[in-house]
Amino acid sequence: MPRRKAAVIAAPRDTSSDEVALRALYHKDPLRILPNALWKTVARLQSLECRFIDDAGSVTGVELREPGKLLIYGTRTQDPLKAASVKLDGVPTVYIHNDFVAPLAPWFDRKEAFFRLVHTGSELPLRATVPGYTIRQVDTTTELPLVATILHACYDTSTPGTNEIAMWTKRPVFAPRAWLWIIDRKEKRPIALGIAETDRLTGEGSLEWIQVLPAFRSLGLGTMLVQELVYRLEQKVAFTTVVGQMKNPCEPEHLFRRCGFAGRDVWWVLHR
Ligand SMILES: CC(C)(COP(=O)(O)OP(=O)(O)OC[C@H]1O[C@@H](n2cnc3c(N)ncnc32)[C@H](O)[C@@H]1OP(=O)(O)O)[C@@H](O)C(=O)NCCC(=O)NCCS
Repeated sequence: MPRRKAAVIAAPRDTSSDEVALRALYHKDPLRILPNALWKTVARLQSLECRFIDDAGSVTGVELREPGKLLIYGTRTQDPLKAASVKLDGVPTVYIHNDFVAPLAPWFDRKEAFFRLVHTGSELPLRATVPGYTIRQVDTTTELPLVATILHACYDTSTPGTNEIAMWTKRPVFAPRAWLWIIDRKEKRPIALGIAETDRLTGEGSLEWIQVLPAFRSLGLGTMLVQELVYRLEQKVAFTTVVGQMKNPCEPEHLFRRCGFAGRDVWWVLHR
């Protein structure tokens, strides 16, 4: 009888020292080190190669690579010459801070810029209310199809379906108190939705999905939602971050700054 080939299963790599170093670096300057909340990168460390950047004896940055797929380059230094050392090796997707994008940009045909802001809670936001509208927590046991419907109605691009959304409720950062509807009191139905996450280990909250149905925009409801989320998060975390596309006709950056978010960091996603 022919022998069956034994399946080769790679033993999981020990990523604990990379995680410790990344956490220390991230805490010093979250907005310059990663283009997203820390937990998202920690969750995929197994598939990432980490190279920490040493500058005169102290760790100032990190290069994260998923071979053949992606490169993330984050550093606290502001010297654009440092980016010259980044080797692209045909990598199709690069996440890089605005300060370093110039020498790399010519190699890529699609480029998208993202603002990355932080709310440090030094001044807790006012909690705006808009007459006729009220906030209620999403019932994540029964209302996920409605969450999918509202997301679909708020964007021109494709949005996650119920099954994908259900996965979000299984992650350690799931924070049921930060899944909020704004309800139209007259019509008794949700017309806006906000979803945020809390990473207790890092002390970081992150706003993930903020949207108001098109017919209800510019009434102050986006502000009401963001202020309520930040208020709820900041009882649990040290800081809250948000990322959003700069080229968005709804100008969400303005909304977040209006609600106390600050920062000047811009990240680029470059695609070939
Ligand atoms: C972004 C969004 C949530 C804003 O909701 P909203 O209820 O219209 O926001 P508000 O009425 O509270 O307005 C907040 C501020 O943004 C301004 N604003 C709202 N819509 C705007 C627009 N299209 N262009 C420019 N400014 C706008 C308002 O004037 C207000 O600023 P001001 O108080 O200084 O005048 C909403 O447009 C939306 O759902 N967009 C689609 C989803 C999306 O892009 N989400 C953001 C992902 S990062």
